[in-house]
Amino acid sequence: MGCLSVTHKLCISICLGFLVYTAAERQYFTISHNTTWEQARNHCQVCYKEMVTLTPENTHIVSKMANSDHWIGLRKYINYKGTSNNDTPWTGWANGDPLFFQNWYPGWPVFKSPLPKIDCCSCSCTCPVLNSTTTSPPARFSIYTGSNTASMVTSNTEVTSDEGTSASNTEVNSDAGTSASNTEVNSDAGTSDPRNTTSSHSLWSATPQPPVISTCERAPMWPPIIPENNKNYIENSCVVILRFGPWVEKECSEKLPSICYEDRFMGSVTISNITASSAALMWEKGPGDISSYRLVVLSAKGDTNITKTLKNLSYDLEGLIAGTGYDIQVFPVKCGRDLNPQNGTFYTIPGKVENLTVTNYTETTVTLIWKKPEGNYGFFKVTAHSNYVDTESIVKDNITAESLVFDGLTQGNNYTFFVTTGVEDRTRWSDIATISECTSPSKVSKLEAFDNSDTHLKLKWEPPEGNYTGFEVKAMDRNLLDLQANVTYPKDLLAKPFEVEVKGLPNGKQINFNVTAISICKLNGATVHFTTYTAPGPVSNLTLAAGPEWVSANWSFDSKHGEVSNFTAVLSHSGHLDQEKNITAYNVTFKDLKTATRYTVDVYAVTNNLRSPKTTNFIFTSPSPPTDAKVLNSTKDCLNFTWTAPKNSSAREYICNIKSDFWNTDNNKTVNETHCKFTGLKSGSTYNFQVFTLSDNTTSQPAKCSGTTVEDPVEIDLSMLCSSEATLHCDKGETRDKVFDDMKTYFEKELGQHVYYKLQKGSST
Ligand SMILES: *[C@@H]1O[C@H](CO)[C@@H](O)[C@H](O)[C@H]1NC(C)=O
Ligand SMILES: *[C@@H]1O[C@H](CO)[C@@H](O)[C@H](O)[C@H]1NC(C)=O
Ligand SMILES: *[C@@H]1O[C@H](CO)[C@@H](O)[C@H](O)[C@H]1NC(C)=O
Ligand SMILES: *[C@@H]1O[C@H](CO)[C@@H](O)[C@H](O)[C@H]1NC(C)=O
Ligand SMILES: *[C@@H]1O[C@H](CO)[C@@H](O)[C@H](O)[C@H]1NC(C)=O
Ligand SMILES: *[C@@H]1O[C@H](CO)[C@@H](O)[C@H](O)[C@H]1NC(C)=O
Ligand SMILES: *[C@@H]1O[C@H](CO)[C@@H](O)[C@H](O)[C@H]1NC(C)=O
Ligand SMILES: *[C@@H]1O[C@H](CO)[C@@H](O)[C@H](O)[C@H]1NC(C)=O
Ligand SMILES: *[C@@H]1O[C@H](CO)[C@@H](O)[C@H](O)[C@H]1NC(C)=O
Ligand SMILES: *[C@@H]1O[C@H](CO)[C@@H](O)[C@H](O)[C@H]1NC(C)=O
Ligand SMILES: *[C@@H]1O[C@H](CO)[C@@H](O)[C@H](O)[C@H]1NC(C)=O
Ligand SMILES: *[C@@H]1O[C@H](CO)[C@@H](O)[C@H](O)[C@H]1NC(C)=O
Repeated sequence: MGCLSVTHKLCISICLGFLVYTAAERQYFTISHNTTWEQARNHCQVCYKEMVTLTPENTHIVSKMANSDHWIGLRKYINYKGTSNNDTPWTGWANGDPLFFQNWYPGWPVFKSPLPKIDCCSCSCTCPVLNSTTTSPPARFSIYTGSNTASMVTSNTEVTSDEGTSASNTEVNSDAGTSASNTEVNSDAGTSDPRNTTSSHSLWSATPQPPVISTCERAPMWPPIIPENNKNYIENSCVVILRFGPWVEKECSEKLPSICYEDRFMGSVTISNITASSAALMWEKGPGDISSYRLVVLSAKGDTNITKTLKNLSYDLEGLIAGTGYDIQVFPVKCGRDLNPQNGTFYTIPGKVENLTVTNYTETTVTLIWKKPEGNYGFFKVTAHSNYVDTESIVKDNITAESLVFDGLTQGNNYTFFVTTGVEDRTRWSDIATISECTSPSKVSKLEAFDNSDTHLKLKWEPPEGNYTGFEVKAMDRNLLDLQANVTYPKDLLAKPFEVEVKGLPNGKQINFNVTAISICKLNGATVHFTTYTAPGPVSNLTLAAGPEWVSANWSFDSKHGEVSNFTAVLSHSGHLDQEKNITAYNVTFKDLKTATRYTVDVYAVTNNLRSPKTTNFIFTSPSPPTDAKVLNSTKDCLNFTWTAPKNSSAREYICNIKSDFWNTDNNKTVNETHCKFTGLKSGSTYNFQVFTLSDNTTSQPAKCSGTTVEDPVEIDLSMLCSSEATLHCDKGETRDKVFDDMKTYFEKELGQHVYYKLQKGSST
């Protein structure tokens, strides 16, 4: 025991206490009808269990019930059959219990006095001990209720007991563990110390009575007092309890009230085969001769009160109300008296709800209504189970209304709702009514458009909470007419953010979008409305013109390419942005440019800050002429020219041209340097030189000069023959001068500055 915990000890004591408590409870009944002892016993046996047996524990209870003399279950010869031959008197109680407790009124029981014998040295201990007539100490008796039989011990004397062996001067400790053997004694007072309990009935020790076994002393004694007669002696006595408790003997044939007892009947009712309207009852047989069983069925709500008197130990209840609690009591009836009832309680099965329907749903709620079943019910229980994703079911319990807004559901899910009726103590459930319904999907959030171009754009958004199986994107024009655009959805439904591409949109227009999440049930969630614009279409017919330091562009724009608010023209060369201009006109001029440079012009139409696709063209600015052309050096047949390259020019090529009308020559030459050499020329001739800057097959204005080859003079004599009608006219000097002058004029006219010559007048012959 040392290692038992406190809990164990507690449990043990509780269990023991429980055992004691559940021990049959003994009940006592006074029978006021006056009968003989035999009749009384017979009545007790028929209608109760037996005549009362008195114990230290119940004696005060029973004595309180007896307000006059009452028969108790004790008589001198318990099985008296008309003669008491050789029977031992006072052996036990009517119910067979041993007689280990007695509570006689002083002087009882009365024994038949024998004739006194003077010379007898023995004395009977059955006589009351007389203080003055004996020197022996008074015998003191104690009863120990230690074992199955009581043992008696006398102090200072020899001992003889039923068990026969122990002799001691001290108290004998009884074995406390055998108290179970005392349960035949009513346990009402079960905890008091048996030694003290017994001795507290001082009547016993105050009037020591003849024990079953007595002792004698050899010491000389005073002659006993001889009783006057045996007038109170009854040969075959029965015992009554007096009004105040102690017992006396009476003639058994006297007619007196009596006291019976019976153990309280603790049966139980078994209920089986419970349906909505019936149940099968079974109960235990009562003790003794039960004349009938009275079945009382009451409903918890008080609307049923059935009483039946039955002989059987079972009964089938019919016509009950569904979902109702019933209390069952079965009273065994014995001699017209109800024994302790056997009890049972149960609920009939409640009815199934009717006409279960869904009246509304939202993203997270479904509204259900139903009609309560016939009969009674405690409450409704609704369980929602998802048909789409494997999640735990949600239960709503203790509902008493006939409708429910079932909340806490997931958006865009398909649920089946199970509705069942329960009774108050949750022992019975009705059949289940089911209905399926979907919650609508939630709406998308953070919707944005990006990469807007003239015919397509992209949309992105955050997926909605809960579940969905896809999205629907509808593109509409300004008047909300469907544009039948081509939408490409990604494969991954759970992508975050979710991006779609929309193609086939009109240029430069306001586009309205409806974006809707779709659920398993093809239900649409709330639509998110969104407006954006496409970029305009490209400009067309972009034509460029260029000078040495400017480029101008003009274009046209077709109104079927959308609305346009302005244009952006971007000028660049060699990949570098040069100038950008926003204009509303359909043309633009860029100035202060490099000559002979390739310029690219991109033109965009713009609406709502969205640029159309670009339209591109390019052009070279025209080259500027070289300057300062001059002759570097000259020989008889060769001329070498040089010049200065134009400023701000990217051009590196030049075209040289040398021309002589006189000699009818015209030579071109393309060079990469800033000088140019012509050979094979005529000496002493003047040539006209031009040099052009060449760029993108375009030549600039020329730089000009002329060069003259070195002369290689040859003398040519010219003789002139003069004849005249007038004599001597030729000899006249005037005439010769005139001829010379004419010739000079002629040479000048023919050769001019083209060729070197010198004309001299020679002598005439
Ligand atoms: C029983 O007898 C007593 C006297 O002997 C009497 O007082 C009492 O009334 C009787 N009781 C009945 C029920 O007859
Ligand atoms: C018993 O006898 C003694 C002596 O004779 C006497 O003193 C005593 O009082 C008596 N006791 C009783 C209870 O009579
Ligand atoms: C009987 O009870 C009294 C008072 O309760 C006590 O003083 C006495 O010792 C007990 N006697 C025995 C034998 O237990
Ligand atoms: C049945 O219930 C009654 C009270 O309603 C009670 O007195 C009785 O002891 C119960 N029967 C049993 C066997 O418990
Ligand atoms: C319960 O019902 C079944 C079938 O109806 C029947 O066989 C059985 O005997 C019933 N039990 C009781 C206790 O009535
Ligand atoms: C049931 O009916 C009987 C008589 O019909 C009545 O005495 C009893 O009080 C009723 N019980 C209840 C609980 O109404
Ligand atoms: C259930 O609906 C049916 C048909 O609509 C109707 O006949 C019946 O009365 C309804 N039941 C209840 C309990 O309202
Ligand atoms: C359905 O529920 C929504 C949200 O609670 C509510 O606005 C609407 O009126 C309800 N419709 C019906 C038919 O009850
Ligand atoms: C459905 O929604 C629940 C709760 O938001 C989520 O855990 C689950 O992944 C979703 N399932 C699908 C298939 O979308
Ligand atoms: C939509 O676009 C896809 C991919 O670009 C293409 O295959 C499909 O033919 C288009 N559908 C329509 C109706 O334009
Ligand atoms: C767009 O959504 C609105 C409601 O938000 C609806 O009235 C309209 O019919 C939808 N348009 C299309 C083409 O689905
Ligand atoms: C919801 O699921 C149930 C069971 O799978 C199915 O019978 C029902 O048609 C579904 N509801 C919808 C609207 O898809």
